[in-house]
Amino acid sequence: MNNVILIGFMGVGKGSVAREVIKHSDYIAIDTDDLIESMENRKIKHIFANEGEKYFRDLEKKISNWLEQSVDNTLISTGGGFYKQKNLKKIAKVVLLDSPFDAIIKRIKNHPNAIKKLKKRPLLQDLKEAKKLYDIRRPEYLALADIVIDVTNKSAIECAKELIKKVKKHA
Ligand code: S3P
Repeated sequence: MNNVILIGFMGVGKGSVAREVIKHSDYIAIDTDDLIESMENRKIKHIFANEGEKYFRDLEKKISNWLEQSVDNTLISTGGGFYKQKNLKKIAKVVLLDSPFDAIIKRIKNHPNAIKKLKKRPLLQDLKEAKKLYDIRRPEYLALADIVIDVTNKSAIECAKELIKKVKKHA
């Protein structure tokens, strides 16, 4: 398989780190949210609004099965809830991008496209609910991870370099 899968909470920077990793390695990168949007030809917020979360999670399951069967030498970045798929460890080495909730929200709010970044994420509309979700998920993320990268106050390039180094070590 030789894949790496990036997990972590919404807005922690999975996409940004993945884009840097591919500049500094031979990996091909794919993103489960992008796959879902292209399969459905519509945005995730519309899928949630029109079909509900269960429909979206079923699409994630379809993708996780496909990844297990078909993908090699790939860096897979995921939506924040994708880690719930049962076959994650069969797909890849699991790398968690970790950061405290407040630092993640600060990161999103400091982004030049902050409003868009918040709007596109149905589960970030209510920050109190999002914090509850974070508190439930964080121990689950940690339990699954083969490698943990604390991304707080680090650039995407720094995180990418740390990832490449740790993945090599872990091989
Ligand atoms: C979700 C995270 C989102 C996206 C969907 C659900 C989640 O991806 O998959 O809105 O359950 O945490 P990001 O982690 O890229 O925001």
